[in-house]
Amino acid sequence: MSRLLISLASLKGGVGKTTSAIHIAGCLTERLGAGVAVVDRDRTRSATSWSRGSKLPFFVGTQDAVFKRADEFTTLVIDSRGGLENDELQEMAEASDFLLLPTNVEYMSLDAMAQTAEALGDLGHQAFGVLFTMAKPGKRLDTARTVLEELGLPVMAATVRVSDAFKDASEQSVLVRDVKTNKLARSCWEDYLAVTEELFQRMEQSR
Ligand SMILES: Nc1ncnc2c1ncn2[C@@H]1O[C@H](COP(=O)(O)OP(=O)(O)O)[C@@H](O)[C@H]1O
Ligand SMILES: [Mg+2]
Repeated sequence: MSRLLISLASLKGGVGKTTSAIHIAGCLTERLGAGVAVVDRDRTRSATSWSRGSKLPFFVGTQDAVFKRADEFTTLVIDSRGGLENDELQEMAEASDFLLLPTNVEYMSLDAMAQTAEALGDLGHQAFGVLFTMAKPGKRLDTARTVLEELGLPVMAATVRVSDAFKDASEQSVLVRDVKTNKLARSCWEDYLAVTEELFQRMEQSR
């Protein structure tokens, strides 16, 4: 059975990998129905903690846990730890239908992205994309986008806004779609719907 495999990775921690893995899995579930799982490959098990209470509409577990139930899943979203080595990053890109690299606009993150660009330099451009998370529209974001594009990195047009609604979502173990305590929660969810839509477009183009 062919499986759709979407991976999240970054050299830096704290850039929104886990938040993105959980929400992309949520969007994929809305789109494709059952059969989506998040593989938690980070020792800190943040994705697994997010799933406590089983309020998420998809399975979250370690690689072993997911493999044990492999025939139930058609779509896997891999959440990894920060600080992968270049060869690990390359392997991940090659094994995935799409490798998404979240980053914020801070200088140090962009510097880490430059190193990532080097590691992934030989891969086809359609195979991966950079996602700006915690983004505020404005000059900083525009400049960061230009910097990465000049490095030759494919940058997603969709971005994810900065909002405390995401912190509420993780505290409440739900998707931001189901957060009732923040007026921006719906718009935050729509950001990930747009990200997921663009992922499909980009995967389509690479076929
Ligand atoms: N779009 C966002 N807006 C505001 N805070 C965010 C956003 N995305 C993630 N965060 C917060 O940033 C921190 C790191 O996010 P996380 O997804 O755990 O990153 P990583 O998995 O890369 O370490 C968490 O506290 C999370 O709630
Ligand atoms: Mg994480």
